[in-house]
Amino acid sequence: MKFDTPATALNPIDQQKVIGRSHDRIDGPAKVTGTAPYAYERNGMAPNAAYGWIVGSAIATGRIVSIDSRDALAAPGVLKVVTYENAGKLAKAKNHTAHMLAGPMVEHYDQAVALVVAETFEQARDAAKMVRVQYAQGTPKADLAAQKDSAIKPKGGNPDTAVGDFAGAFARSAVKVDSTYTTPDQSHAMMEPHATIASWTGDKLTLWTSNQMIDWAVGDMATTLMIPRENVRVDSPFIGGGFGGKLWVRSDAVMAALGARAVGRPVKVTLARPQIMNNTTHRPATIQRLRIGAGKDGRIDAIAHEVWSGDLEGGSPETAANATRLLYRGENRMTSHRLAVLNLGEGNAMRAPGEAVGLLALEAAMDELAEKLNMDPVQLRIVNDTQFDPEKGESRPFSSRKLVEALKVGADRFGWSKRNPKPGQVRDGQWLVGMGMASAFRDNVTMDSGARVGVDSKGLVTVETDMTDIGTGTYTIIAQTAAEMMGVPLEGVVVKLGDSRFPASAGSGGQWGANSSTAGVYAACMTLRTQLAQKAGFNADATFADGKITSGNRSVSLGEAAGPTGTVVTDKIEFGDLSKKYAQATFGSHFAEVGVDMATGEIRVRRMGGAFAAGRILNPKSARNQVIGAMAMGVGAALMEDAVPDPRFGYFVNHDMAEYHVPVHADIPKQDVFFLSELDEKSSPMKAKGVGELGICGAGAAIANAVYNACGVRIRDYPLTLDKVI
Ligand code: MOS
Repeated sequence: MKFDTPATALNPIDQQKVIGRSHDRIDGPAKVTGTAPYAYERNGMAPNAAYGWIVGSAIATGRIVSIDSRDALAAPGVLKVVTYENAGKLAKAKNHTAHMLAGPMVEHYDQAVALVVAETFEQARDAAKMVRVQYAQGTPKADLAAQKDSAIKPKGGNPDTAVGDFAGAFARSAVKVDSTYTTPDQSHAMMEPHATIASWTGDKLTLWTSNQMIDWAVGDMATTLMIPRENVRVDSPFIGGGFGGKLWVRSDAVMAALGARAVGRPVKVTLARPQIMNNTTHRPATIQRLRIGAGKDGRIDAIAHEVWSGDLEGGSPETAANATRLLYRGENRMTSHRLAVLNLGEGNAMRAPGEAVGLLALEAAMDELAEKLNMDPVQLRIVNDTQFDPEKGESRPFSSRKLVEALKVGADRFGWSKRNPKPGQVRDGQWLVGMGMASAFRDNVTMDSGARVGVDSKGLVTVETDMTDIGTGTYTIIAQTAAEMMGVPLEGVVVKLGDSRFPASAGSGGQWGANSSTAGVYAACMTLRTQLAQKAGFNADATFADGKITSGNRSVSLGEAAGPTGTVVTDKIEFGDLSKKYAQATFGSHFAEVGVDMATGEIRVRRMGGAFAAGRILNPKSARNQVIGAMAMGVGAALMEDAVPDPRFGYFVNHDMAEYHVPVHADIPKQDVFFLSELDEKSSPMKAKGVGELGICGAGAAIANAVYNACGVRIRDYPLTLDKVI
């Protein structure tokens, strides 16, 4: 089904008998009883699996001189040591900046240089210490600030934009801010480590793994191993978090496949936490300069956002200025992304790449501007709203945009009017108390998505798609969609996900998953409805409700219509150019109250709140889960998360959960999330948009602005730790 005209007419989804309502996750019981099969636990799939342990490079850049595996091979239980010398020819998949197996060149610290395969996990891990690798070590570049001046304009993407005359307008502006912010490297820190069991049957490979994007995984494995796509099956029904770290296959998958091929039996590989942080990918650190010029009325005349980040040679920038291109009005504007080469492992997407760190800078600069204008920060954002893409002009309106409403409703719910705009005035015992706010903004991307939907002779509906559930609630919203479309209760739907044998879907990334994949299920259900109605002799006006197809006074049960062998169809949603004609994004507001300890500078979040506009909310309960989790991640970005590179050796020093701090429940006392009522007819037939990443965007800036309001210290270097307060 092509989606190229707005869904202005009512469709079956608009009934909202099942969709649009809060439902517990249908996969919840399996998860809390430990029966949901996660990748590393799927022993039943490969009962005779051997264990692989990855030996990581001890240097960040240079060359392998020699690998001596003799001692490792002589160790108990060891079956094989796989290195670039015996792995066979490998290619680099297009989605990877680094090779998944080093040799002879080393591209980053902890890059896989060998896989030790043994009968047990302990034997493999122990023997890995006996693999002796000699290196010719180069000098790593690991400090973004030191490499900033060598940064280049990246080839791909859209690194620069410019409209009007920024320099002239900024020079003439009545009120100006010119501030530079820094954000550190961050790790996805998902709960479930990367893990894969690989098994070959002849020349056919199966991977039971943990991956957000099944179709990409199939393609990348085929490219890497130089085998046909049809020979690769990837299965990933449950994923314990990804946050972008599992968008692409990583060394666990590639090395497990190589190990299994080498020993002729299945091989299991998981990454320990330090390997996740140094072997895989991270969100790159940024330096961001914001210049905003406004009139005395607060209206922005000039805005510039320049971003520097680093990556391996051939990598991509952190597109932190993307939000600045679309969030506020202003005739004179420019943005740029510059990329420095760093030997710090692959920098890549982490939850809301671009916006998440971009708003840490933009929304702090807006707070500084509001203070200079002596204007309320909420009001400053309201007067700078735009209903069209400010770089493209009125010819490109937003598909829907409720920023102003989100700001007003959010402020009202939070009690923003009680805020004292003067910093350092409010005390509660030892605490200085402050309030801050920020706008929330995240792109709404749509991706083609397919599904197979069937009805059996008993009327049971089954949905199969390679879409993934990374803890987001996909199983539930897909069941809700199919239930609504086919007129059955939620319990009448079985959802099967994450297997490349099912139709290719949008996958889980960039907050496009929920809207796109349910739209794919919608498309398949529309086709199924037509077929069932025809089979039962109905016209197009037949309705699907209560497990029956009805027209006039005639009803046929779904199962009867499906026939004794059932009816199954496959279809997909294909998105046309509505996302080109309209700017599509999601909006919201964040509010935060913090306490800063007067003696120690310790910062404590006291409460957070926000209002969000993201089209139709498919399941308010799972959507809220997404937003509160993302808000907590925003607290991490503001106050804790900091992967610290050692500039001498080019690796992240604090590579475990004891030293890489993320918020825990005790750090997040109270969160209020409110969804505005919105239908986006240009986004999809679901009239929904993404919501999985919106909640992190702006949350950290609201915290930083609250810290300033509490104590009057403006910290532009994230995370805001107590040493910077004092
Ligand atoms: Mo997201 S960073 O595209 O999983």
